[in-house]
Amino acid sequence: MKDRTGAPKDGACLVLQGLSKKFGGLHAVKGIDLEVYPGDRKGIIGPNGAGKTTLFNLITGVFLPTGGKVLLFGQNVSGWPTHRRTKLGMARTFQITSLFPKLTVLENVLLAVQGLRQMKWVMWRPIKSYRGVYEKAYALLEQVAYADRKDVEVRHLSHGEQRQIEIVLALASDPRLLLLDEPAAGLSSGESSEMAAFLRNLDPNLAILMIEHDMDVAFSVVDSIAVLHYGELVEEGTTDHIRSSAKVQEIYLGTG
Ligand SMILES: Nc1ncnc2c1ncn2[C@@H]1O[C@H](COP(=O)(O)OP(=O)(O)O)[C@@H](O)[C@H]1O
Ligand SMILES: [Mg+2]
Repeated sequence: MKDRTGAPKDGACLVLQGLSKKFGGLHAVKGIDLEVYPGDRKGIIGPNGAGKTTLFNLITGVFLPTGGKVLLFGQNVSGWPTHRRTKLGMARTFQITSLFPKLTVLENVLLAVQGLRQMKWVMWRPIKSYRGVYEKAYALLEQVAYADRKDVEVRHLSHGEQRQIEIVLALASDPRLLLLDEPAAGLSSGESSEMAAFLRNLDPNLAILMIEHDMDVAFSVVDSIAVLHYGELVEEGTTDHIRSSAKVQEIYLGTG
């Protein structure tokens, strides 16, 4: 969404301007322009190797761009390390699981809220006795309809539920922009629909930018989609527009 001058509107969570990344001779991400506003639900699709994960790594600061800019909540963060970007209100999930399987759902969330996850295990008193932390963790679980399962050890949850709890951990920092890289990867079709329902029920003010391979999940969660192909953004629009796009069909049929 742009105004008539083509400039991003005020209040954007994320603006990418001509964003590029070369790995040696390989142009993995090529001149991407993209905008995400509060409450947007935007999908990124494209064949394997299209540059989707590299794009996320540029947004989160895992890689620095070789060209262009990343603006987060109005600030040019292009050269910033990840932790500074996170503090502005951005969160992401990781493909590798970050849960403690023998702790309960609530204990995992408590640790995320407390920010203990990066610290040494110095426990002066039971973490549950920190009232603010407990209340915050419980409120988060209530929001995502997990309060009734708070005392279940994470290892007893289904794989799909564990993936949902990983997203809850990302929400512990109160992000305004959430980046999800293939949230339904490795899930059964039933678990994928549950994941889609879970994502649809998240706070409507939260902006979500989501890479997703499973089209049923992508189309049922997002309002608009950007299509990457060989590092370039080749099509962007509503889900209806993308569904009927000849260009997108060509890419997916391998004739593009
Ligand atoms: N760290 C890296 N070093 C060199 N090449 C990379 C690196 N990461 C990704 N690539 C290459 O960049 C291209 C885009 O990869 P990637 O962003 O992972 O695609 P996608 O997530 O869309 O499948 C691929 O050709 C990949 O091999
Ligand atoms: Mg990828």
